Amino acid sequence: MSKQKKSENEGQVEARVDALLKKMSLEEKVGQLNQVGGAAFSPGPAAEDQIRKGGAGSVLWLNDTKKFNELQKIAIEESPSGIPLLFALDVIHGYHTIFPVPLAMAASWDPKVPEKSQSVAAKEARAAGLHWTFGPMLDICRDARWGRIVEGAGEDPYLASAMAAAQVRGFQGDDVSDSERVLACAKHFAGYGYSDGGRDYDPVYLSESQLRNTVLPPFKAAVDVGVETFMSAYMDLNDVPATGNRFLLRKVLRDEWGFDGFVVSDAFAVANMVIQGHAKDRREAALRGLKSGMNMDMSSYTYTDNAAQLVEEGSLTEAEIDELVRPILTVKAKMGLFEKPYVDETLLDKVIALPEHRATSRWSAQRSMVLLRNEGGLLPLSKDVKKVAVLGPVADSMQATEGSWMVFGHTPAAVTVLQGIRAKLPNAEVTYASGPEIRRDIPSWFENLMAGQERKPEQTPAESEAAFQSALETAKAADQIIMVLGETDIMAGEAASRASLDLPGRQEELLKAVVALGKPVFLVLLNGRPLSINWAAENIPAILEAWEPGTEGGNAVADILFGDANPGGKLPVTFPRKGSHAPLYYARNTTHSPEDSPMYNPRYWDGLPVPLYPFGFGLSYTTFEFSNLKISSEKIKLGESLTVAVEVTNTGKLAGDEVAQLYIHQKHGTDTRPMRELKGFERITPATWRKEDCDLQTRQR
Ligand code: BGC
Repeated sequence: MSKQKKSENEGQVEARVDALLKKMSLEEKVGQLNQVGGAAFSPGPAAEDQIRKGGAGSVLWLNDTKKFNELQKIAIEESPSGIPLLFALDVIHGYHTIFPVPLAMAASWDPKVPEKSQSVAAKEARAAGLHWTFGPMLDICRDARWGRIVEGAGEDPYLASAMAAAQVRGFQGDDVSDSERVLACAKHFAGYGYSDGGRDYDPVYLSESQLRNTVLPPFKAAVDVGVETFMSAYMDLNDVPATGNRFLLRKVLRDEWGFDGFVVSDAFAVANMVIQGHAKDRREAALRGLKSGMNMDMSSYTYTDNAAQLVEEGSLTEAEIDELVRPILTVKAKMGLFEKPYVDETLLDKVIALPEHRATSRWSAQRSMVLLRNEGGLLPLSKDVKKVAVLGPVADSMQATEGSWMVFGHTPAAVTVLQGIRAKLPNAEVTYASGPEIRRDIPSWFENLMAGQERKPEQTPAESEAAFQSALETAKAADQIIMVLGETDIMAGEAASRASLDLPGRQEELLKAVVALGKPVFLVLLNGRPLSINWAAENIPAILEAWEPGTEGGNAVADILFGDANPGGKLPVTFPRKGSHAPLYYARNTTHSPEDSPMYNPRYWDGLPVPLYPFGFGLSYTTFEFSNLKISSEKIKLGESLTVAVEVTNTGKLAGDEVAQLYIHQKHGTDTRPMRELKGFERITPATWRKEDCDLQTRQR
């Protein structure tokens, strides 16, 4: 859109919003600040009744195209000012076509991966009638025990900022009126990834230095590319719930960053300020939320129950309410919802059938995978193998392959690793056994929420043993064994923190027993967090981290195992050797007793907390050489920049990708800084250097 057209549009939007605010009653304005839950577990009166009286600005937890149009019709034709609704849902890594989980996409170290994937997610979600997704999740996390690490981009603010910007661009594009895009939502503002002990929802204590240097940068990156909405976090940040936190919501977000979109609370979080002890009752919670600039109340009805009265009694002015409503109406107008409020109910089927959506999912998954070990270049495997056994509880699980955070009502339909390998080896005999089941010791409330996830009765010890023996028998009959181990989808995500990072259940026991057979064994990991696979790291020569890879996950794993794709991902997060070593991350400050000092004191006396696999690590089927490092100047002053260049050459025989990673270190200053900090990266495909053909040698910067 040209600049002139844009400002004309902005003028029209502003005029429309002014006119609306003039005619709306106070109750209707408060209604715009209310997000109504469309699911059975949502409290409050029926959605239809709230919408009809102008008591709803948005609806969430509903995924039903026909119903969207029905509700929208009520809003347009029956509510006092006929303001369209915004339909919102968590579309975290795909709507119908599922992409690798966000942690995996960050492992691609290629912002094009989340950008392209989220643009497909947006197109499908919009075709279903949704306008707004609750993503990207931008919480930096350095504690692998925290379940929601799977939803973010890992531990580093620089990498996470690049991924944040890419996801916002993917969801929103650069024009909010684009009918193939959805509004993005930067969440959870801020600090949620630092909950005490990695325990979900527990309080967070962060110094301003940690906040500004580590936690806030991805959010700022999202603002810089125009994210339209934010979501507050659940927990207390330095003893003030993020939902009523004026420092975050007013000082940082509005005053410093100039954010002019709107903020929604996390689910029920306005009312939860009473439980947290920040407000004495719901009336006070509403006041604290409204005063701190929290525009929209996600489904706790604290605003609709109290805001008008707060104005009447003089605790708030109507102008303060207008200030909160304005950005919500503005977004609706900018999106063109007043002109085009309904969705074409025939569109979704056509859109999800587009073959390029699956192709993008396969490409994303291939690029996200990280080769952790490949002793003696055992991988890629030959396709000439006769008998392969595929073993493990997640080897044929569509849920585990698609991963955590499915869209409401979505039925998992991923190509599993077993299916992918079978498709890749049409002439081989590919056998399968799951081995003993794995399950959470304590179930989650979310388990019942997702489709097809009823908790099955637990295996008895005898059933577990029978499954173990059957897996061993299957292994004995094969020439080669591919173990697919890890976690199920509900073992990571919200309310899915754990104290240990070991492979759950009897998986390691099975792995050891299979290795003892003396046959070639390869390991594929499906998981949403770092796992402390210490024994495997020593004893299994080839290990592929496939994460939770999405709809085409099994095909992408097979592509890599059998050499149709070369892995080039790198870890976006440190893999600790034990859960009790968390938080563990690379960007630590130098202490008075560094590892290389003669006075060095070990950090623990019962095992050094060194990473099993470090941040930025990942192998390839080929080799690379870095040379000719050039730096544009030896010294720079504050505020100046310099350029660092290096030549990267592929010195092997296969084409492949390398990620050039640039780290800096501040030697001294009034604030000490980490030993290394990522400040630049680029995933590249250097030309292959063939010794026998030096003339053709090309080098890529
Ligand atoms: C989660 C959010 C999510 C919201 C709406 C909450 O439980 O913390 O990340 O967007 O629910 O589903």
